[in-house]
Amino acid sequence: MKWPPQGRSQVQLGNEEKDIDSSDLSKGRFGSLLLSMPPGRILISQAKLRARVRELGVTISRHYRRHLPPGEKPLFLGVMNGALFFFTDLLRAVDLDDVEISTLRVSSYAGTQSAGTLRGLKALGDSFNGRHVLIVDDILDTGLTLSALVTRLKELGAADVKTCILLEKRRKHDVPIKPDWLGFKIEDEFVVGYGLDLDGKYRALKQIRVLKTPDQ
Ligand code: XMP
Repeated sequence: MKWPPQGRSQVQLGNEEKDIDSSDLSKGRFGSLLLSMPPGRILISQAKLRARVRELGVTISRHYRRHLPPGEKPLFLGVMNGALFFFTDLLRAVDLDDVEISTLRVSSYAGTQSAGTLRGLKALGDSFNGRHVLIVDDILDTGLTLSALVTRLKELGAADVKTCILLEKRRKHDVPIKPDWLGFKIEDEFVVGYGLDLDGKYRALKQIRVLKTPDQ
């Protein structure tokens, strides 16, 4: 579209579609909306996220249909808050007779840096004994969170632990670990949206965006 638009037009401002007139722009009426636009460039669009999550749902359903012992149901464990949208969308895309759903919270990040230690694992109870668990998480960065979680679930007696991660950063992980199922490989940049946040901000954005922080 030509910018600024001529006459009346529908434009996307942030997450909202607005019907605007070119004279509104010249009068500055939309200045505040332009300022509240989401940060950074779109790395993965809503349509691409939807399509990939659908594919993962099909693959994961096929896997559990083939490999679960009779009478067993898998336990899908979503890591909050980052995997919130991914987890619920994936659950909708999965086609299995019975799935048990649980969530947990762990955290290692402060700002855009990993704090290196993980809080929240001790609180996990003994309900994992003998279970086939699928960990669903937002992003694999240093690898610390995922490997600590897999180790802990095995200690608690899980019969099988698989991992499904939305994003994996293209970098050498501090702890070597490979997800069983992956949405997208991305460059080593800080991303937000679709559940991923920067200290609580940008989590509700519909797309994954690369954040340019003020110190960059
Ligand atoms: P590790 O380093 O343990 O990271 O593999 C896992 C957790 O760190 C958070 N993380 C990010 N969050 N944008 C975010 O919003 C990022 O680029 C990013 N990199 C890591 C995230 O919570 C993840 O589960």
